[in-house]
Amino acid sequence: MRVVIEPTAADVAERAAWIVARLVRFRPDASIALPTGRTPLLMYDELVRLHETAGLDFSRVTTFGLDEYRGLAGDDPRSFRSYLRRHFLDRVNVSPEKTHALDGLATDVAGECAAYEERIREAGGLDLALLGIGLEGHIGMNEPGSSLGSRTRLKTLTEHTARAAIGAFADADEVPRQALTMGVATILDARRCLLLATGRTKSAAVRHAVEGPLTSQVSASALQLHPDVQVILDEDAAADLARQAYYRAMELAQRALE
Ligand code: PGA
Repeated sequence: MRVVIEPTAADVAERAAWIVARLVRFRPDASIALPTGRTPLLMYDELVRLHETAGLDFSRVTTFGLDEYRGLAGDDPRSFRSYLRRHFLDRVNVSPEKTHALDGLATDVAGECAAYEERIREAGGLDLALLGIGLEGHIGMNEPGSSLGSRTRLKTLTEHTARAAIGAFADADEVPRQALTMGVATILDARRCLLLATGRTKSAAVRHAVEGPLTSQVSASALQLHPDVQVILDEDAAADLARQAYYRAMELAQRALE
């Protein structure tokens, strides 16, 4: 794992956007898995800025939302699909036919999830999975206990996840209790993974993911199995890591080579 500690959340966003931009320039038809939540907002703003000011071209890029609430229509403003349109997809030139999302209203959930896996395969697999991390260490909505071999499926959300989502809903009872999510193995199949975390509230989850044992209790720890992962943190999210000095030294050495 390459652990990169940046001074601020804005630097995290800039670095992540730079990596996405470089991928899209070298591979204009890249397929990319997209996260929601507070963490990636600045990265999406930066990608929009690169699109507007530097001509970053997303017209051949394929995107896949990582997850979707069960029970919400894609055009419901609280859905993850709407979030991705609002904060990113509608602000750049991604082609609508190339943006994929899980259907939170699917009646055949297993069929919907299997079809999503098939669509990812048809796109040539994921070149990049952009990821946030939950307070309990989830990636996507792979809550504690998720099999590290899991594929796209329905998951029940933990209280922590439901509470973290309350802001988008009128009250706690409205927060969906389930979500369709790419599985841990679906994410690990991506050729490259980028985990972003900012803020002190994430420091414990980051420590478990990066320095803890590989465990289904913290699905982000499965990234330890992946050969090409960058974990990009601000100082606050890195605060609980035991080996901070080592990661900083490694990063300096790495940047000297680049
Ligand atoms: P957040 O969500 O960015 O809103 O903290 C991250 C996640 O739950 O994956």
